[in-house]
Amino acid sequence: MRTPFLAGNWKMYKTPTDTQAFFDAFLPLVAGATGRDAAICPPYIDLHVAIAAAAGSKVGIGAQNLAAGKEGAMTGEISGYMLKAIGCRYVIIGHSERRQYFGENEAGVLSKARAALEYGLAPIVCVGELLAERESGSTEAVLAAQFDGGIAPLAPEQFAKIVIAYEPVWAIGTGKVATPEQAADVHAFIRGRVAAKFGDAQAAATRILYGGSVKPDNVEGLMAKPDIDGALVGGASLDPNAFAAIVNF
Ligand code: PGA
Repeated sequence: MRTPFLAGNWKMYKTPTDTQAFFDAFLPLVAGATGRDAAICPPYIDLHVAIAAAAGSKVGIGAQNLAAGKEGAMTGEISGYMLKAIGCRYVIIGHSERRQYFGENEAGVLSKARAALEYGLAPIVCVGELLAERESGSTEAVLAAQFDGGIAPLAPEQFAKIVIAYEPVWAIGTGKVATPEQAADVHAFIRGRVAAKFGDAQAAATRILYGGSVKPDNVEGLMAKPDIDGALVGGASLDPNAFAAIVNF
């Protein structure tokens, strides 16, 4: 009942010209993909080009961040209202790089998720533990705190619209992918948390993506796990052939 979702996170890569070239190459490669959702989340400056290029395709476009609120004196910020106005469908919230380099915490994740939902964007909310946390055996405690602080306070009808991405920080951009078993264990833990808070039916409907060094050659093993509903892909999403292979898994 959960449609697989393959989303690309371009981070701080690609100009508008690069973006057009990506879509020119990528869209024909995924034109035949059925039974799955695909999205690309480029930098803000590329959104217009990406949205125009992807119009009429099944590829949705998302942003990588947003500011809470509609508009205001907030130099350098972009709101969900603005993202929706240009045709974004998704927004990544709470990526570990934003937590690490920009001080985002659970309260910020929650307010950004609420702001995204208010303007009709589907949040992709990221959670995940650091290597030291995994090694000290606190993975579940970290995920529980992230879920309880940043996600669980959403109203049930809001929660129904979000996607969760489990991204172990030690696997992001390192080439060190979690094994399908490691990922599946955490996904099952998160799904249990969802069930406890929002009920079994919602837990069965919520998509939980895995992120961290997903590549064409490891996506099959991950997607074979029943609790893994898709992938949030960084590096491999920059290449149209690699990301098409992931979408077409
Ligand atoms: P990666 O990034 O695929 O390059 O590891 C994943 C992410 O940060 O979303």
